[in-house]
Amino acid sequence: MRKKIIAGNWKMNKTIEEAIELANGLKLDLADCKDVDVVLCPPFTALKSVSDIVSETQIAVGSQNMSSEDEGAYTGEICHTMLKEIFVRYVILGHSERRQYYKENDFWINKKVVKALEKNLRPILCVGETLEDRESGSTEKVVEVQVREGLKDVAAESYTELVIAYEPVWAIGTGKVATAQQAQDVHAFIRGVVKDMVGAEAADAVRIQYGGSMKPDNAVELLGQPDIDGGLIGGAALDATSFAGIVKAAM
Ligand code: 13P
Repeated sequence: MRKKIIAGNWKMNKTIEEAIELANGLKLDLADCKDVDVVLCPPFTALKSVSDIVSETQIAVGSQNMSSEDEGAYTGEICHTMLKEIFVRYVILGHSERRQYYKENDFWINKKVVKALEKNLRPILCVGETLEDRESGSTEKVVEVQVREGLKDVAAESYTELVIAYEPVWAIGTGKVATAQQAQDVHAFIRGVVKDMVGAEAADAVRIQYGGSMKPDNAVELLGQPDIDGGLIGGAALDATSFAGIVKAAM
């Protein structure tokens, strides 16, 4: 039985002060929540403050990116040591906004995934098709390449540590949510790709989140699908009541 995982991707939102307020609100609401893994992913500047607030709770902290390198002359980058120093446990990698605006490609995303696992951080690998891909019937082809390339050289035993987030680009921040059936179909497909890559045991164990306009009112149906193991939440993660509502839908 896979434990559900709900992660909030705050993207480039929240000053430190605002992040502290949100994290304190969520701590009150969700601190005892043992049945669902909850992860907060604030911007880098607020990571330490949020990490301190949730330090003795069940809530974990994640970053929104990580360098594939260990240290050195990489201006603007943040490495695993810096994240682990402040008790970050998860790293979102390959988000579609990074693929689209910063031209991150599967090669570099894979290097980051491999590095994160090597350093005992849990990658949340994001994959998903654009509207153009979907309308041209290429959803499976696009997602399969992202999964195969993003998880290249990852051992079967590591699949319990990583998370795949299926985020159809056309559903992100648009209010246009994939139907539960559309999402389920792609999740089942991804699990099949993993099975083909590393075997049935890893495919059965890996958690696959859905992301894209998930809200408390559509979360129950999405999370009720057999292959949907959680959510990666953008807009609704910026409000304590909405995010807590989604976590409760996962219980
Ligand atoms: P929204 O929930 O705002 O659509 O964002 C989803 C997302 O991109 C999470 O990573």
